[in-house]
Amino acid sequence: MQGAALLAAALAALSVLQGVPRGAAAQRAVNQFPDDFYFGASTASYQIEGAWDEDGKGESIWDHMLHTQPNLTADGNNGDVAADSYHKYKEDVQALVGLNANVYRFSLSWPRILPTGDTDNINQAGIDHYNDVIDELLANGIQPMMTLYHWDLPQELQKLGGWPNIVLADYFVEYARIAFENFGDRVKLWLTFNEPDIFSIGYATANGLAPGANSSGIADYLMAKTIMLAHARVYKLYDEQFREAQQGRVGITLDCDWYEPLTNSTEDADAAERQLQFQLGMYAHPIFSDSGDFPEVVKQRVAANSEAEGRTRSRLPTLSQEEIDFIKGTADFMGLNHYSTSLATSGLKGSIPSKDYDTGVITSAIEGYPTGEGMTDVPWGLRKLLNWVHEKYPGYQIFITENGFADPPGVLNDTGRIHYHRGYLSAVLRAINEDDVPVIGYSVWALIDTLEWMSGYTRKFGLYNVDFDDPERPRTAKASVSVLGQIYQSKEVPLQDFEDADTMPPVL
Ligand code: NOJ
Repeated sequence: MQGAALLAAALAALSVLQGVPRGAAAQRAVNQFPDDFYFGASTASYQIEGAWDEDGKGESIWDHMLHTQPNLTADGNNGDVAADSYHKYKEDVQALVGLNANVYRFSLSWPRILPTGDTDNINQAGIDHYNDVIDELLANGIQPMMTLYHWDLPQELQKLGGWPNIVLADYFVEYARIAFENFGDRVKLWLTFNEPDIFSIGYATANGLAPGANSSGIADYLMAKTIMLAHARVYKLYDEQFREAQQGRVGITLDCDWYEPLTNSTEDADAAERQLQFQLGMYAHPIFSDSGDFPEVVKQRVAANSEAEGRTRSRLPTLSQEEIDFIKGTADFMGLNHYSTSLATSGLKGSIPSKDYDTGVITSAIEGYPTGEGMTDVPWGLRKLLNWVHEKYPGYQIFITENGFADPPGVLNDTGRIHYHRGYLSAVLRAINEDDVPVIGYSVWALIDTLEWMSGYTRKFGLYNVDFDDPERPRTAKASVSVLGQIYQSKEVPLQDFEDADTMPPVL
């Protein structure tokens, strides 16, 4: 290396040391997002739509579970009406306009389109509804980002056992085809699944999430194989039959908190890493890593525990070499949901068998960071997670498809949420501008207050308040809307926030 090249390399090295953004980032201020960054808000069909049996919609596992066991939610409520977005979607689009959002992440209700889950009955009214939503978004300059599966499986498919049954992949492919055919001319951002790690709880427990299959450490692993194959098949379907004409991108949304080792012992560092592998690696490694398959540590621990339980094979399903190769690389980007950070140490918890027991990690809250309705506000945890993901799975862009803060009902002056998002957006920006992590979008959970699954209407994530006691379900902007709206419009965070991102004190 000589002359000019040497000088350029020296300058680049110096800028790294000084934390000055390089490449394209050097063209903009440190507290500025890239010009083409996506800023948005997210929702999911069962949590906001209501109209649970209108215009030909079929029953979902959530309709079924909360109709037959209404006492499962904290307030005995369900999603029959929710925020009534099926009828009020135009107001939701105006809420996005008020936020200066350029993307809206929402999900399709599978049983609204295919009431039995299969193509014997294609419900045109359901398709019309989503066409209306998409057209309304585009007319207002907002890109639709569509999640195909945000947990509301048609109940008819649960009769087959749901996701642990590998045949579900066949049904999912046909459903996805209908979505691509009907919406793909206008929808360019697709997500196959939302948080398989979390909805697997519905297979592990009796009264966690739907369907309540109560098969801990077994069904929650079996479904992982179906989900991976279903995702990969849908990706390939898009690739082979739709990509050329539609020019969109297909990803999957995975969830992960950050885990900081409790002490500086190697054991705690291993525990934190193990927790990340069981939570995120389980679904990310097969798709995004070079080698594919479930992570080594997951395979080893589940196999060892299965043997100790006297089983002749692992409770974790195996993927054949052909399946490993088929799944590997089937994403155009990674969707990432992140909420919080905890401490991790090695230790046993959970029943035998269970994913918790197999993981062998005990987590605890970080002292000094009070929790807002079960979440800690630790922005640097997201920066560390983004770096971890990028290091493990380089070459993939990351879209933060959820990040959010919960309040009790009725808080309009939501200062906790404002503090949270200012910190997390600043941490994202540091990851982009200083660490070169390719983050392309940030979407807040949630646009409006929703049915928060087992918490019913007792925990509110919305930027807009919804009055669930009023039949009109009026939406009212919380204070966070104007703060985020300003960041979304200017594409920059206040300089002070940026500077504080790694040290920002918690709200006390
Ligand atoms: C993740 C899920 O995708 C969403 O449905 C849920 O409401 C939020 N996290 C908050 O818990």
